[in-house]
Amino acid sequence: MSLKTGESSSNIEDLTIGNLTAHVIQMSTKGEDSRVKYLTAKLIQHLHDFVRDVELQTDEWEVAWQFLTRIGQTCTPERQEFVLLSDVLGVSALVDAINSKQTSGATESSVLGPFFSDTAKVFENGESITSNSIAGEPMLIRGAVLDTAGKPIPRALVDIWETDGNGFYDMQDVEYNEPDCRGKFFTDTSGKFYLKGVKPVDYPIPNDGPVGEILQLFNRDWYRPAHVHYMIMHPEYEKLVTAVYSRESKYIIEDPVFGTKKSLVVDFVWTQDEALAKTYGISPIERIMGSEKSRGFWLLERDFVLVSKKSKGGRKINDTVV
Ligand code: BEZ
Ligand code: FE
Repeated sequence: MSLKTGESSSNIEDLTIGNLTAHVIQMSTKGEDSRVKYLTAKLIQHLHDFVRDVELQTDEWEVAWQFLTRIGQTCTPERQEFVLLSDVLGVSALVDAINSKQTSGATESSVLGPFFSDTAKVFENGESITSNSIAGEPMLIRGAVLDTAGKPIPRALVDIWETDGNGFYDMQDVEYNEPDCRGKFFTDTSGKFYLKGVKPVDYPIPNDGPVGEILQLFNRDWYRPAHVHYMIMHPEYEKLVTAVYSRESKYIIEDPVFGTKKSLVVDFVWTQDEALAKTYGISPIERIMGSEKSRGFWLLERDFVLVSKKSKGGRKINDTVV
């Protein structure tokens, strides 16, 4: 129902619960791009179906748009509340699942989260990504980047970020002015990377904004299990965004952002191996293990398998894939 020039307004057809959706879709899909038209039509259809289904009340709609306004107002260059909303509603995990249709043997992906920053410096293998003042117990992080046939991939860029031993990312510290607990490494000729960091700990996702309000409303926990993030890139392979999660964390089952996967659960291993400490220049610490005093450090060993760019699929523009 659109009026053409010269057409009389008496031809106006009333928009109703039954015909409004088709009209809005018709008005909104006049552009050229088939994928945009497909996404727009589906989005309007699903949104309207939801509103009809629950018979959304005016006061509820007001609460919803005021909430979304607060989400937008909370966003800054350092804080992406919209991404966080997508994370806690499981949308990020769903997009991730759809986009990482598993090539057999490839490492599974996980949520990027709001604490990635491209400010990380490039280090030489073996260097430390933590400053001297950082809290936390020393951890050797090492692994290899491989293709699906098990062949090492040299010169892959491995970007790693983690919390300190208090559960904070560098950008959450008001006094932060230098990247910390994050770094970029290139794999060596045998596809290996190795660095010094700290053992990350369970930490709360930001819960002092509107996302925190709904977590409380839903009576949900907001701690993520301790993890280390990896973004791995090489010109000939699909970018891998993933993380590995500590088996010992009690939050491994109920991750508030649904990023954990069985294949990404690892052990942070306590080792007293002095020769290894010497090789990597690690200063062991003393801590209680069980009921005994022990001198050592943590070890995280994990390899990653990338998928060749040649195996990428297409995008839907109707009910087929192009
Ligand atoms: C993170 O692991 O850094 C993260 C992911 C999603 C939401 C909040 C934090
Ligand atoms: Fe994280």
